[in-house]
Amino acid sequence: MQLNASRSLVIALSKGRPLSELLSMLAQLGIQPTDDMTTSRKLVFETNQPDVRLMVLRGHDVATYVEHGIADLGIVGKDVLLEFQGDGFYEPLDLKMSQCQMMVAGLVNEGRLPRRLRVATKFVETAKRHYADKGIQIDIIKLTGALELAPVMQLAHRIVDIVETGNTLVANGLEPKELICDISSRLIVNKVAYKTKRALIQPLIERLAEITT
Ligand code: PRP
Repeated sequence: MQLNASRSLVIALSKGRPLSELLSMLAQLGIQPTDDMTTSRKLVFETNQPDVRLMVLRGHDVATYVEHGIADLGIVGKDVLLEFQGDGFYEPLDLKMSQCQMMVAGLVNEGRLPRRLRVATKFVETAKRHYADKGIQIDIIKLTGALELAPVMQLAHRIVDIVETGNTLVANGLEPKELICDISSRLIVNKVAYKTKRALIQPLIERLAEITT
């Protein structure tokens, strides 16, 4: 049977910290994977609903699979969507989960900064947009993790990163300098699937909206 046949739904979830929370939310919709997705090495999971399969992917790949219609629906952080270039999906629902903030941060005692800042981030598009909106020219240094180290080791003056509890900033002598935007998990829906599988997808969106408001 074709994975994404018209009578079935494929939902892509982001791996990592939010996964357990997402699975509880799906359980409230009556969707439960037949294997433990938090420990299994499998990537596609059958569920108790014969027409629903779940996939677990990195956030950016969730958006890619939904854009190409391999997954009909995806749940992914707004931080990922802000970086994503495609437009093959709708974003109908803020699930208000995994809430955090996109921040500019820097050293608590950063002293006098040069006119042109070096900004380290893995959120390159978000950082560029933020500074472009303010009319400030910067140099971006792209990193893939442990961003807090960059100001400490003088690789960059500032970072653009996600802040949840703020503990990682504090532990490294950093502080938030500017809020860029609030971040949370979003439901995304492939544009074609939204039309062709509307009878399956619309009730799901409505139930999710009830659960999350
Ligand atoms: C994220 C983020 C910060 C940290 C913020 O990193 O990039 O480093 O969490 O959380 P806090 O405000 O609660 O301390 P993550 O743990 O996802 O790892 P990464 O550094 O590899 O991106």
